[in-house]
Formats: sequence, C-alpha cells, structure tokens
Amino acid sequence: MANVVVVGAQWGDEGKGKIVDWLSHRADLVARFQGGHNAGHTLVVDGTTYKLSLLPSGVVRGKTSLIGNGVVIDPWAFAKELERLKGQGVKPTPETLVIAENAALILPVHRDLDELRESRDDGMTIGTTRRGIGPAYEDKVGRRAIRVIDLADEEFLTNRVNDLLHHHNALRRGYGREEYDPAELVAALMEIAPSILPFVGPVWKKLDQAVRCDQKILFEGAQGVWLDVDHGTYPYVTSSNTVAGQAAAGSGVGPRDLSFVLGIAKAYTTRVGEGPFPTELSDDIGHKLGERGNEFGTVTGRQRRCGWFDAVMVKQAVTTTGIDGVALTKLDVLDGFTELKVCVGYKLGGKRIRRFPVSRVDQEALQPVYETFEGWDGSTKGARSWADLPANAVKYVRRIEELIGCQVSLLSTSPEREDVILMKDPFRGR
Ligand code: IMP
Repeated sequence: MANVVVVGAQWGDEGKGKIVDWLSHRADLVARFQGGHNAGHTLVVDGTTYKLSLLPSGVVRGKTSLIGNGVVIDPWAFAKELERLKGQGVKPTPETLVIAENAALILPVHRDLDELRESRDDGMTIGTTRRGIGPAYEDKVGRRAIRVIDLADEEFLTNRVNDLLHHHNALRRGYGREEYDPAELVAALMEIAPSILPFVGPVWKKLDQAVRCDQKILFEGAQGVWLDVDHGTYPYVTSSNTVAGQAAAGSGVGPRDLSFVLGIAKAYTTRVGEGPFPTELSDDIGHKLGERGNEFGTVTGRQRRCGWFDAVMVKQAVTTTGIDGVALTKLDVLDGFTELKVCVGYKLGGKRIRRFPVSRVDQEALQPVYETFEGWDGSTKGARSWADLPANAVKYVRRIEELIGCQVSLLSTSPEREDVILMKDPFRGR
C-alpha cells in the first residue's frame, strides 16, 4: 500500500493540477484536505481544459473524489462548479463524490468580511483571493461555524445561524455595515442545501475502507508550504495548514496512512498576493518568466510575481512538510534564457544564512546569494526522457536536487499530462 500526498513546495501555483491529474490516473481515490475554492487547479485532458477550485481533480477522471473535513466549503461555489463540470460532460454522483459531514461552510458573511478587510488602504492587506477563506476558518476555530451536516435540520441550523450572526453582526456594526438577517441566511441555506446534501457522508469511513482494501489514495493539497498558517510567511499566508501532516487531520486518516509526500516545485518561483519574496525579479527577466510561464492566477486572474528558484526555501519546505520526492514543473519555461540563477543562501546584516528567518523585519532585509548557471539551447518542451534534455538542463536539475537535499521523482516538461520524465513512481512508496 502506498498513498501519496501532493503538496506545493513554494507559494502555490506550482503546477499541481497536472501532476495530480497524472497521479490520479493511477489512484483509486482522490481526497482534498484543506483550503477551499481559493485553489485553482488546471487540467488539460484530451485537449479540453478543466478549471477546478473546490472539487478534487479526480472527478474529471471519474475517480472516487472526497472533500475532507479540513476543507471549507462555499455551497454556492460548489453547486456552480458542479454545474460547470456537468456542462463539460463530467457528472459526479453521490457514489463518486463525497463531502465530509463535519466540513465547515463559507457563507456570504465570510466573503463580506474578507472583502472589507482587503479593501483597506492602510497597506495592511494580505492580497487574499477574497473568497472568505480566512474568516470561515476563524469561525471554525472559534466554534461558531455552520457545518455541512447542519443543513439537514432547519431548526438546528437556525440556532447555529443565530449564534454565528451574534458574532458577525457585532463586527458588521463596527465596520458600519448593515446587519445580516438570520432568517434571510437560513432561507438561503435551505435553498442551496438540496444541491449539496446528497453528496454528504463520512469521508473518514470511505478512506478507512480504502486503506483496508489496499486501494491507492491520492491526497491533493492546495496552495503551498510557504502559505501554511504556521510554517509560511505569516501573516501573508492562507488560513489553513498546507503541510502534508494536514492530509491526516483534514480527512480523518492516521499519519501512518500517508506513505509518500510528493512536493511540487516550479523550476523558478512565483507568488500571488502580498508578502516577502527574496528572489523576485521586477525587471525584464521577471516579465519574461511571467509571459512564457503564463503566470496569471487561475482563480482571480491576478498577475503572479516571478523570480528565480529559491533553493533555500524549497529545502526548508522539504524539511517542514517531510517531502520524499519532488516533482519539478515548468522547466520548459526556462528554455532560451542565456543565464539562470538559483538562490543558495541569503545575506542578512552582513552574515550569510541558509534558512528563511521567521522575523518579518529580517525577511524584508534579506539579500539573496545566487549561483549562476549557463542556459541551454534547444527545447525541453515535451521531453519524456533524460536523453531528450540539453546537457545544461540536466545540470540545472541535478544541482537543484543537491541544493534542496531531495531527489526529483518527476520532471514535467509541458502542460500535457504525459509529458513527464519519471524517475520514481510515488505510488511505490519511499
Ligand atoms: P486566501 O487563501 O484567499 O485567504 O489568500 C491568502 C494568500 O494565499 C494570498 O496571498 C493568496 O494569493 C494566496 N493563495 C490562496 N490560494 C492560492 C492558490 O491556490 N495559489 C496561490 N496562492 C494562493
């Protein structure tokens, strides 16, 4: 038995969609365990592009797809995404798509609050996706959240909504906003409930059965380790734990059931939203990376910030999330650059350091130390074996392996699913 957890090793947008699709082909079940519809996973299947935000990528392949308790669910976004997929011929059923009964909901009051906070002009915004993710997680931890199963009982739901709005209306008054009417929210939830309730079930039990039957489970992480609420560049992070350990807590399996952690890293670095980014390039090179890599957010359409590969950050992610192998993506975007750089350390106050500091003051003052590489002529696009790669591209990848202290298990060379060089099949375990 070997279950695989996929996590981003940078700030998200590492190209997880394609890798997850490649792996889900080989898996029996695909489960999400954190985040919500802030994620954006793009899959290209037989020339058709599917954009998923909330549903596990396995739905497109007809695999059993599970949304774990660690995910926050906007029921309207769920219904919309399901409809859009149906329009593309993908029709999940309650047998193939199960949502955890104990997952917390994202409600209009959460979206409002996210929007209000992000509309400030005092330079203190995070650059969130404005989907209500943070406020929904706050309510979950504050024990006020409405959970999916609460939609099944109107009377109970009404009590929960009253409790929740007691808190939110106080906030809304503080922001000078109109109070939210509990009856209106209950009515809206009762209206959407039939779209989601048929899919609700005990995800932990489905997973337990799968483990007992030796089925292959793929745990699909969203965002990236550097957006983790504990290990990331706080406060410029998302509001969930994005590290691999969350796959257990956010779906209801034991940590022993997570056999292989595959970290996805882009051959350069991108970030969307505010926060520190030591290797960011605001010049023509950054521009070129963005253009060649089509670096625009799947969810918000925002232009992503681009920079050189930061081996210090990826190495630290390898440690904090426990990565067994890396899938290196978008190598082809670096084709044609005469020179490439990789960050191998930082200078801080005249000293050389090899870890990313926690202090925000230090983070802002970091100067990257680079190792320079010769670029390569010719194309890596679509390469399916090492022999297809220019020698300098092989050198670049091998040096990255040394610097991050982890083997590259998979190399992705185009958006097409089969354009992959496989060194180690994650489903075969460590
Ligand atoms: P939130 O998750 O919407 O609260 O946003 C918090 C931070 O995480 C912001 O910097 C977002 O840009 C970033 N973020 C959230 N989801 C993703 C994602 O799927 N890819 C990349 N960045 C993300």
